[in-house]
Amino acid sequence: MEYQKILTSIQNEISSIDNTGKVASYIPELAKVDAAKLGMHLHCINSGHYHFGDNTEKFSIQSISKVFALTKAMLLLGDDLFERVDVEPSGDPFNSLVQLEYENGIPRNPFINAGALVVCDILVSKLENPKNDLLDFIHKLVNSKNIGINRNVFESEKKHSHRNMSLLNLMKAFGNIKNNIEIVLDLYIHLCSIEMSCEELSKAFMIYANGGKLLYNQEQIVPSRKVKRINAIMQTCGFYDEAGEFSFRVGLPGKSGVGGGIVAVHPGQYAVTVWSPPLNPKGNSELGMYSLEQLTTLTGLSIF
Ligand code: DON
Repeated sequence: MEYQKILTSIQNEISSIDNTGKVASYIPELAKVDAAKLGMHLHCINSGHYHFGDNTEKFSIQSISKVFALTKAMLLLGDDLFERVDVEPSGDPFNSLVQLEYENGIPRNPFINAGALVVCDILVSKLENPKNDLLDFIHKLVNSKNIGINRNVFESEKKHSHRNMSLLNLMKAFGNIKNNIEIVLDLYIHLCSIEMSCEELSKAFMIYANGGKLLYNQEQIVPSRKVKRINAIMQTCGFYDEAGEFSFRVGLPGKSGVGGGIVAVHPGQYAVTVWSPPLNPKGNSELGMYSLEQLTTLTGLSIF
């Protein structure tokens, strides 16, 4: 497959598109990002790397970190995890409170904020130093220690966490948060503040393209049946109330973040990341979605 040729044609096409998206501003520090940034990096299981633009520049991965947190929690807890968080698409915005009240504090899935907060609560219960352990886990996936958090984004989000605090309080009232809510929120915001480039995210997500084995040494670090489930949750819940649309247009499991990044996985083939900060009204990168739609259209390959 001529991936580089296809990526270059996507770059040429999207450079001239009128981007109607808006950079996230509800976390003031995120609003400072240059809206014109654009990068794409595809890491292929058999044949190396293909990329364009700002593919090596680090950005705020935001909700993409929810996939790493879920993976770590699934390694620690097994199926009991799914008694505290479900695996159904929510059809609601990522930070919505409405379903939680009538579903007794059990979040619909681990990729909406409520579900990720339950996952963080589990990590706080199970790990002595969850922040370091999660970063170490990512370092292992990427085979590099050069990944950390952006302190300004962390502080900025901390000051604007009223909805996440509300979600935590409501779930605490239902008994589905076991630890101090400030500690759980602190871990959640820490994970959202991690910075990675398209290249680093694609390398990290190779674990989901390669059946749970690290590509660089073939060590099995996540059992393949867990990878199957994580990919299934990305497919059905990775884009909040636009999960159906992403599936329809792109046809790959994936996960977005309000920093403008999207990672998608073609199991057995590749992991690909796109970064373009302006978001569509559902909070997903406008050009990111279009680029991935073009990728699966031009290659003629998706999981469907
Ligand atoms: O909870 C928040 O508001 C963010 N830090 C994470 C949001 C996010 O990336 C959701 N979306 N795609």
